[in-house]
Amino acid sequence: HRFFDQKKSLQGKKIIVTAGATIERIDPVRYLTNDSSGKMGFALAAAARDMGAEVTLIAGKTTVPAPTGVQVVRVESAQDMLEAVLQRFDDTDIVVKAAAVTDYRPIDQAKQKIKKSAAEMTLTLVKNQDILYTIGERKTKQFIVGFAAETERIDEYAMDKLKRKRCDLLVANDVTEEGAGFGTDTNVVRLYDANGLIELLPVMSKQGVAREVLLRVAERIRKGAQ
Ligand code: CTP
Ligand code: CA
Repeated sequence: HRFFDQKKSLQGKKIIVTAGATIERIDPVRYLTNDSSGKMGFALAAAARDMGAEVTLIAGKTTVPAPTGVQVVRVESAQDMLEAVLQRFDDTDIVVKAAAVTDYRPIDQAKQKIKKSAAEMTLTLVKNQDILYTIGERKTKQFIVGFAAETERIDEYAMDKLKRKRCDLLVANDVTEEGAGFGTDTNVVRLYDANGLIELLPVMSKQGVAREVLLRVAERIRKGAQ
């Protein structure tokens, strides 16, 4: 609607944003993780706050401080993040899964620091449960936004993730592209829905990307609710 106030277009909505990298402990002083900075997720949480939403930010390891005016829940592992999301899921309207979740964790976590001995050592990893897939299966009213970080065949992989994980919207980026990906202040993303590619956004700040993504979420929820 022309008179729809874009600024407060998520007023009254409860939103969960996950951000940053999960970490998987090997022993008390070592862990596996990835390069996620948390900037994209934090920008999404701040943008949702500015659009009037009640924001719960579930964050793993990040390199920047969390935004103010949102409820921050800190987690370490993928399992912790899954529990934190599930605890709040039934009561939420929107979930935005920007976190870079560790795909595998060590099968055992040593209680004591592992001492070096042999010239080679083997670490056995087991797959973590997929948080997005789990909530996709459980969703009732929730609008779910997934992310995909790719280095090749972006459209194909993005659509596969959107369908398999039952997302309403998927934000994909080619992390090898200039101005995109981990640690940068800008991002270049493509948006997909169940019908396929809907938009190629130009390179913009992560704040800009966050706002554009959430405006589309608000618009789709509003249309769906009529
Ligand atoms: N994701 C998740 N739980 C996991 C792994 C990923 O919720 N255990 C979510 C991410 O938060 C993101 C989306 O799934 O929103 C896609 O993550 P990505 O790593 O691109 O996809 P994967 O399904 O893990 O596939 P792959 O890493 O093999 O490309
Ligand atoms: Ca992954």
